[in-house]
Amino acid sequence: MSRKRVAILISGRGSNMAALISAARAPDFPAEIVLVVSNNPEAPGLAHARDAGIATAIIDHRPFGKDREAFERNLQGVLEANRVELVCLAGFMRMLTPWFVHRWLGRLLNIHPSLLPEFKGVDTHARALAAGAKTHGATVHFVVPEMDSGPVIAQARVPVHRGDTPDTLAARVLEAEHHIYPIALRYVAEGRAQMIDGRCMIDGKEHIEPVLLIPPP
Ligand code: GAR
Repeated sequence: MSRKRVAILISGRGSNMAALISAARAPDFPAEIVLVVSNNPEAPGLAHARDAGIATAIIDHRPFGKDREAFERNLQGVLEANRVELVCLAGFMRMLTPWFVHRWLGRLLNIHPSLLPEFKGVDTHARALAAGAKTHGATVHFVVPEMDSGPVIAQARVPVHRGDTPDTLAARVLEAEHHIYPIALRYVAEGRAQMIDGRCMIDGKEHIEPVLLIPPP
């Protein structure tokens, strides 16, 4: 089995990164994590990646100012130098330009802490609570230029409990994130999930019911 070479892009804690690293240790996992890149030199996730024996790179976005493409050209160079085939965003808090996204279309995944298309953007847990949502969740999707809008590969729905705070809800969602991101990466790395004409096809069929309930009913 030839395993796809994957880079994970982080900005912070890196718990989704850790979940992917751990899943990729399984001998039958169809992808290997070859590189972790952070735009934030202080990202706590970097130490975890290094401890796991994975190459890391820091590309601080700040010297590039408003020139997002210049930052991304550097990033692209590092990805090419490491012969990366798939890129997973895992708490990577930088908007990517169409220049970069088009280079990786169908090979660039993101995880977002909501049931997209609900609650795009930030503060998803507080907004779900304020909206009185009964359930909330997480989505892994292919990245397209428009933020948090690409075709869905996997979703997990979790209940909202009475008395939840943004933090308690975030913790429940995060656990679901750690569950679905490795599943989604496995599907993409195996070529079973593909982005075709802006849709996610799984085993050649349009992905109609992507929601996985956690915990199961
Ligand atoms: C995760 O909840 C992820 O879904 C979210 O940031 C957190 C990162 O945590 N991503 C976004 O909000 C992207 N729009 P982690 O660093 O522990 O994986």
